[in-house]
Amino acid sequence: MQRVQQIAKKMGIYLVNSINPFRLEGQKTVMYRVLEALRWESPDWIVVPGGNLGNSSAFGKAFIELKQLGLISKIPRLAVINAAGANTFNLLTNTNSVSWNQGEPNKPVMNQFFTDMDTQNRRASTIASAIEINRPVNLVKGLRAIEFCNGVVRETNDQEIMDAKAKVGAGGMGCEPASAASVAGAKKLRAEGIIAPSDRVVCILTAHQMKDSTATVAYHSSDQKTFDEVLGVRGVRRAGFANRAVQVPNSLDDIIKAIEVYA
Ligand SMILES: Cc1ncc(COP(=O)(O)O)c(C=O)c1O
Repeated sequence: MQRVQQIAKKMGIYLVNSINPFRLEGQKTVMYRVLEALRWESPDWIVVPGGNLGNSSAFGKAFIELKQLGLISKIPRLAVINAAGANTFNLLTNTNSVSWNQGEPNKPVMNQFFTDMDTQNRRASTIASAIEINRPVNLVKGLRAIEFCNGVVRETNDQEIMDAKAKVGAGGMGCEPASAASVAGAKKLRAEGIIAPSDRVVCILTAHQMKDSTATVAYHSSDQKTFDEVLGVRGVRRAGFANRAVQVPNSLDDIIKAIEVYA
């Protein structure tokens, strides 16, 4: 991110990534669309993957403003889901008890955390490339969102992410790995009893299934070498929800039979 900013400055390039406040303003509209679809009845939970925490901050800001404007009365709870290999937000909030604290989060604790990260050369590592971020640029704004929305932060590993992604895909919609972190996170929060069976939960899928397609191919193909190279190295051991290609002879009867068996 530092390098990107240097390049943008030097070359006069306009940055539209998560550091751009106008992007966050635009991302508020994701929540407007959710509410619109739910006839302006707030759900109990919004679950979102967390990388640079642009989405999370924007969602929080959307609810702060919607409440101020009197357009909603109930604030949904926000669940931000990190990848286990890029879990700064989870560690800071849950392990180090950093909170918004009326705009005065515990800076010494945060600074020490990042100093240790540098000293130990801890690098973000997850198959969910969109959230493979250890230094969220919107960290403080993310803390505000958690505070206002009575939120929680969790992390989920690459196995859980890939399994959740396959389940979303099996539902006919499809998403890329970072998006599936929200579904895996919701499952975890349900198992912990934090999300109740009766709760209305909206998981935000942040991008299309064609993003990070290498991960999809590795999970669903039966080629062990590809699986090991792409997913095995990241601790993924099983492809329990793989939807494998079925090979059939070039005959009408065989093709129809295969469709009847597998469809
Ligand atoms: C597909 C996808 N998911 C998740 C994220 C992470 O969102 P944020 O950086 O707002 O936390 C991004 C960020 O660009 C993304 O592209």
